[in-house]
Amino acid sequence: MYILVTPGWRDDPNRMKALILAGGKGTRLKPLTNTIAKQLIPVANKPILHYVLEQVTSAGISDIGIIISPETGCLIKEALGDGKRWGARITYIPQSEPLGLAHAVQTARPFLGDSSFLMFLGDNLIHGGVDVFVERFTTGEADALVLLKEVAAPRLFGVAELDASGEIVRLVEKPREPVSNLALVGIYLFTPEIHDAIARIKPSWRGELEITDAIQVLLDMGRTVRSHILEGWWLDTGKKDDLLEANRVVLDEFLQRDVRGEIDAASQVVGRVTVGEGATIENSTIRGPVLIGEGCHIRNSMVGPFTSIAAGTTIEQSGIEHSVVLENCSIYNIERLSDCVLGRCAEITRRGDGFKATTLFVGDDARVGL
Ligand code: DAU
Repeated sequence: MYILVTPGWRDDPNRMKALILAGGKGTRLKPLTNTIAKQLIPVANKPILHYVLEQVTSAGISDIGIIISPETGCLIKEALGDGKRWGARITYIPQSEPLGLAHAVQTARPFLGDSSFLMFLGDNLIHGGVDVFVERFTTGEADALVLLKEVAAPRLFGVAELDASGEIVRLVEKPREPVSNLALVGIYLFTPEIHDAIARIKPSWRGELEITDAIQVLLDMGRTVRSHILEGWWLDTGKKDDLLEANRVVLDEFLQRDVRGEIDAASQVVGRVTVGEGATIENSTIRGPVLIGEGCHIRNSMVGPFTSIAAGTTIEQSGIEHSVVLENCSIYNIERLSDCVLGRCAEITRRGDGFKATTLFVGDDARVGL
């Protein structure tokens, strides 16, 4: 009698699914997140979620579930559509409240079924993508593979403790006294065993079902949890400074010189600078890496380095560096702006009549540093 042995389902990356988390409230990025989902904030003029989709599909996964919230779900749907642009099929999964990463997995259970899956937090990015980790997981025997990265402030993350041989022995979410400086990166690979583990956890002190606790339960159940310590960069764009850092890293690594707009003879454009169609640069210095979107107008100004300016923005008589400016902003007569994030249609001007008072008209949750 012959037994036909077919390759296991775990060897077939086409059977893997991905779950991207794009829900949550984005509280740490207010006021920007009053009108935009945090996962759609642009880094180098491209929404973070687009990079995530590129990394997921490049690893050969095309069946993708996306967790969305009631507040920003329609914006995410509008930005990603059915996923065809990335050769993917997207299923949107509403999560009524942000009750934790493990709660998001529970909510996605009907979509995930009994498939193994890559879970990717929609505000995280890593250097070099996830191909090698998907490959390692699908050909291995572990029930979870987590990525770790040495960080300066482990208290802000899930933290892993490893034994002398490098195996994970313990995981703690946002510990008061971290046992190591190895943070859990927001990218995980799981077999369906994770669902049993999630069923056994209780909400944490912050009222969330933590995926970190569920992975700890996997360990306690005697399951194999593997880890990989990342050498390259990891960007978690959850706060303003992280967003600026992500913008710096992405411009530094990927920006090419590509000038399509008009630059007059009095201007200097130095280094890796991209200027979109219909943009004009007059009597200005642009010091790369800088990305200037379509239809921007820059006059008598200094821009860069490490600055992304989205389409339709006008900058006159001003200086700006190390900043992210969203669409259709106006900046007039501001000598030097540094480390700024400006939401869409923001207007920052200084009156040119010697009037010394500061005149502000700012929206809810705005932060102004003078
Ligand atoms: O960034 C890595 C860290 O991400 C890990 O080190 C932590 O262990 C992990 O718990 C997580 O911590 P955060 O506090 O940074 O997670 P945050 O609440 O920012 O949520 C991450 C993403 O998941 C974000 O895009 C929003 C989305 N989300 C979050 C929750 C709580 C959901 O879609 N649903 C949710 O219920």
